[in-house]
Amino acid sequence: MMFPDTILQRLRQAQRIVFFTGAGVSAESGISTFRDHADGLWGKFDPMEVATPFAFAANPQKVWDWYSQRADVVRKAVPNAGHRAIAQLSPIKNVEVITQNVDNLHQAAGSPSVLELHGNLFRLKPFFDKEELSEGGRTPIICPACGGLAASDMVDAFGCKDDLQGIELVAGPVPRCPCCNTLMRPGVVWFYETLDNSVLDAAEASVIECDVLICVGSSLEVQPAASLPFLAKQNGSLIVEVNPQPTSLSEIADATLVGSAAEVLPLLMREVWGVTEGGMP
Ligand code: OAD
Repeated sequence: MMFPDTILQRLRQAQRIVFFTGAGVSAESGISTFRDHADGLWGKFDPMEVATPFAFAANPQKVWDWYSQRADVVRKAVPNAGHRAIAQLSPIKNVEVITQNVDNLHQAAGSPSVLELHGNLFRLKPFFDKEELSEGGRTPIICPACGGLAASDMVDAFGCKDDLQGIELVAGPVPRCPCCNTLMRPGVVWFYETLDNSVLDAAEASVIECDVLICVGSSLEVQPAASLPFLAKQNGSLIVEVNPQPTSLSEIADATLVGSAAEVLPLLMREVWGVTEGGMP
């Protein structure tokens, strides 16, 4: 038995359930986390050199190469039993997934509603160097193809959106928007950048309203994402944490399930909601 009766009852009665996930939920799909001591990405690479707008402005090719290598790993990955367990609950409960991951694996597992706080590796976006613009004193206009800021004299209004959509995050030279020629970058949020307001607002609304928040595989070290489970707690939600290691949330969580996502989440689904891999029992 995973839970005392009182918690089990609250879980079963819950209508709105939020899964708040981090890199740990994808670890068993073969995607490295950021801060695990053995093979966390930020132990091997300096995020200041590969994950900031300044790094990209200084050396776009280095950043592109780093992300295209990550994209190769992510493209080969498939959802694990943890992603699948979350997706299996969606048809019977009001489930929202709020993820910090950029790997598409919740969507691939079939979760219908996923808020991507840190963007998506495969949705490229234009890079615009704000300093360059202000120095040049140019009036920016929006490029009709990539939707980014572009210097007016560079924009080809007949530039083709299809060409833009054909550009992928793969090894090679950093691609440019076929319309305004600006450099393209992965559609993720970097350090020193702000989250998409509409996504953050939706995530906040969702955690304020939820009955239960289940936090899976996040170290909760990056703001503002990390504050969301605490916001849920302040608003009276039941908090469950799934993580092999303790975090700052463990102290205030109503239940802490120590273990990996792929092991614990299927058990949780079966014990609490009677959901199994093959469907309802
Ligand atoms: P972290 O790498 O900081 O934390 C991963 C967490 O997953 C740790 O608490 C691990 O104990 C836990 N974990 C490891 N294996 C697990 C498993 N199999 N099952 C469950 N949990 C496991 O990753 P995040 O918290 O997601 O941001 O990091 C947050 C943000 O920091 C990322 O979105 C990224 C990074 O910088 C950006 O790139 C903007």
